[in-house]
Amino acid sequence: MARGAIALLTLGLCGCEGIQSALSPLGPVAREIAALWWWMFGVGVAVFVLVLTALLYAVFSHPDRRRTVDPERMILGGGIVLPVVVLSILLPFGVIVGASVSDERAPEALTIRVRAHQWWWDIEYDDGTPAGGFTTANELYLPVGRQIELILTSADVIHSLWLPRLAGKLDLIPGRTNRLVVEADSAGILRGQCAEFCGLGHAKMALVAVAVPPEEFAAWADAQRRPAAEPEDELARRGGELFAAAGCALCHAVRGTRAWGRVGPDLTHVGGRLTIGAGLLDTTRDNLALWIAHNGALKPGNRMPDFADLDRQQRDAIAAYLESLE
Ligand code: CUA
Repeated sequence: MARGAIALLTLGLCGCEGIQSALSPLGPVAREIAALWWWMFGVGVAVFVLVLTALLYAVFSHPDRRRTVDPERMILGGGIVLPVVVLSILLPFGVIVGASVSDERAPEALTIRVRAHQWWWDIEYDDGTPAGGFTTANELYLPVGRQIELILTSADVIHSLWLPRLAGKLDLIPGRTNRLVVEADSAGILRGQCAEFCGLGHAKMALVAVAVPPEEFAAWADAQRRPAAEPEDELARRGGELFAAAGCALCHAVRGTRAWGRVGPDLTHVGGRLTIGAGLLDTTRDNLALWIAHNGALKPGNRMPDFADLDRQQRDAIAAYLESLE
């Protein structure tokens, strides 16, 4: 029993260290939310211990020491006074945190537009100049120590962006724009998840966020702005031709080529992303080939057709091409 409890506790605490845990905050907003959570947890534990002590006393104390409590006093004390006192202690914390988690934007904040789709994230960086912006998908790079203004909207149904290590969740609503201001104050990788049921692919609508030092962010942004590199080896070159011939370009964009589709994720630098399928699989050549042929089984409901009629070599060639797009 004790061993089981320890195992459970250890498991629970391991969960707090995860890349998607609100109890492992990476920025000021998340830190305040985590502090609020610990306060609520602490008060909850105190109430639990109080009730349990009273219960154990009632069950195990000597019969001579027990007496019936007047029901009216019990209801007044335990049912009204205690909750009012406990909730009055907690309420100010909630109000203070809620007020400080505002959407005040500093002038030097970086603007990122996130447009949710069933079931992926279209991410557009906007540095204020017409030529400086670029589009990516399902992966958010953030410079450490700089405010980020996320402009959130949706292309179809209501989604919700939740990056627990950075901030609370906020809905992305079609025809409406929501703003979320976040900041990462140390480097790290975190995982976000769509937190509003949005159809069959909802559970597999994740995104990866990577907080990096400002210099590293600038280098990444420069690389993202560039059009796709010409594939160097023969297999990837053939994959590029097949990519165009198989109709991939009707839905996907690869800047610098004739692929200008905007229905699916921008693939200009897909090979440099950590995951494919919105946080589903690591970006490897095998996984890319698997995704091309069986994405419907990997992510039920996915809008992309399965290109199962391509043979193994053709899929491998396209996968090699996509992997080369770093
Ligand atoms: Cu998007 Cu749930």
